Amino acid sequence: MSDRTPAAATAAPGTFPNLHVSGHPLVRHKVTLLSDERTDTKLFRELVRELTPLLLYEATADLPTTAIRYRTPLEETDGAQIDVRIGLVPILRAGLGLVEAAIDALPRAEVWHLGMYRDEATHRPVSYYNRLPERCPDDLVIVLDPMLATGGSASDAATVLKDWGAQWIKFVGIKAAPEGVALMASDHPDVQLYAASLDRELDANRFIRPGLGDAGDRLFGTGQG
Ligand code: PRP
Repeated sequence: MSDRTPAAATAAPGTFPNLHVSGHPLVRHKVTLLSDERTDTKLFRELVRELTPLLLYEATADLPTTAIRYRTPLEETDGAQIDVRIGLVPILRAGLGLVEAAIDALPRAEVWHLGMYRDEATHRPVSYYNRLPERCPDDLVIVLDPMLATGGSASDAATVLKDWGAQWIKFVGIKAAPEGVALMASDHPDVQLYAASLDRELDANRFIRPGLGDAGDRLFGTGQG
């Protein structure tokens, strides 16, 4: 049945002022396909690639621009340019799925990697890779990770990035759980979160429900063995 409410995916609007959930039909369609258990690794990767620029489009809507004068082949006119230096920070491993499409959208962005996995027993993030240079050179740092579950990984990443000197941080993901959004609101209320879907809850294993399973495993075809 047709749902003609454009913002139907924006669950509980106003509940989480730090969260922007895309209500765009393309995003809602693609995240539905992505979450479907029948979606294989190849299609899963393609859908993550397709979702990334749509989410970045919304996440960068407030970038400041500088007015410039320039010439078309016919005359001088007014234009705009972005002078903001942007860093992309994918959280390994699943964040890698968003990187190439993000660079396509933001070709001058720098890419800094952080490696974290979530301990299966404690559900706490464990950091295993960080080669950030001494000082943050970017005006805006965009963290890329498809999943915001407990929010522990995103919160630790934001802490690391702030200690590094990042002044303006955004998080771009695909699925978010209310628990993770709430943790980020409490730990880092200045970090705006952008997601394709706000799901219902975390289960006892701290998996997002209904969720999409393990994003890293589905992206990289692991998890069968
Ligand atoms: C997943 C996901 C996030 C984290 C989210 O990574 O990609 O990084 O868990 O959970 P949290 O919000 O509770 O911290 P995972 O530990 O599965 O590692 P992977 O990316 O290497 O698969």
